[in-house]
Amino acid sequence: LENGLALTPQMGFNDWNAYGCAVSESLIKSTALAMHDNGMQAAGYAYVNIDDCWMTSARDSAGRLVPDPAKFPDGISGTAAYVHSLGLKLGIYEDGGTATCAGYPGSLGHETTDANTFAAWGVDYLKYDNCNNQGVSARTRYTAMRDALAATGRPILFSLCNWGEESVWTWGAPVGNSWRTTGDISASFASMVSTFHGNAGLAPYAGPGHWNDPDMLEIGNNGMSPTENRSEFSLWAEMAAPLLAGTDIAGASAETLNVLTNRNVIAVDQDSLGRQGTLVSSVNGLDVLAKPLANGDVSVVLFNETGSAATISTTAAAIGKTGASAYTLTDLWSGGTSSTTGDISASVEAHGVVMYRVSGGATGAAPSGGVHALGAGS
Ligand code: GLA
Repeated sequence: LENGLALTPQMGFNDWNAYGCAVSESLIKSTALAMHDNGMQAAGYAYVNIDDCWMTSARDSAGRLVPDPAKFPDGISGTAAYVHSLGLKLGIYEDGGTATCAGYPGSLGHETTDANTFAAWGVDYLKYDNCNNQGVSARTRYTAMRDALAATGRPILFSLCNWGEESVWTWGAPVGNSWRTTGDISASFASMVSTFHGNAGLAPYAGPGHWNDPDMLEIGNNGMSPTENRSEFSLWAEMAAPLLAGTDIAGASAETLNVLTNRNVIAVDQDSLGRQGTLVSSVNGLDVLAKPLANGDVSVVLFNETGSAATISTTAAAIGKTGASAYTLTDLWSGGTSSTTGDISASVEAHGVVMYRVSGGATGAAPSGGVHALGAGS
């Protein structure tokens, strides 16, 4: 969506994965303060997003949505003012049907009223869900809300959530800033891998202002090991996915925060070229992904889905790098560097990744995913 937002994939927090319906003003405020103090904001996390269950079960006499006064005593506007005072932005959730997935009032037929309400409250981001949609096409319903948001004059990032239905990637670019490509993720390695595969083939549809969204991060939610957490973060960054932390931020472990604030990996996600990485190969649970970057470097992820350590190999030519007698590999998790004349190969632990930034030579065509020539690299 060309509204000037999400020129790189959005970064922030959403409460749903860790808290479900137990959202509140105190949770949102304490999360925002923690993001401000723990390095996440400085690393690029900007949005603090409220998911489902923030409102009362009925609209007011003027037809407006009402924040649950027990959960949000200062309302959404008071919550937004606090989040804004920290230099962060506030997101909210609604649904383009007659009711949200948890059964609260939906926006179908109320798009203008609700968009105006969100803008008046100071909302910066809308996640728009797809439950109870009465069989009206998502494209029609989401376009109506897009237009209502635009008419408010307030920049509001528009995140579509129809789980990849109706091939949303084929029509989503002029409608939303991102669109979910899969069903809901859960905190397990198996769910993360299946979500990754559901999203990985859609690279041609992503670009600045319009991203494929493989759902929110599960890092820190105790369903994945530290190795698996690094894998999810690496894969999401390589796919230029929105990076929405979905865990208890104020109580996050050092390990969780170290993963979420890895600047080398975040730089791959946020690269200004805005290309989603593509699968170069995927054989027997061993995957190679390549993502061209603005300065001519290429980011490579070697991902081992299997339960035992394995060597994963590719070449500079296979990831689109040519023309140098040697290339530099920077390991984005260890920070170490090495040199290669062409082979890119590593022993990768079970369920783990090795992620390199490859520099040197020129960047040309990669064999899959339609990578375009980028000229001389660094
Ligand atoms: C759907 C969405 C989730 C979450 C819930 C809230 O399942 O896909 O991300 O927003 O609704 O009810």
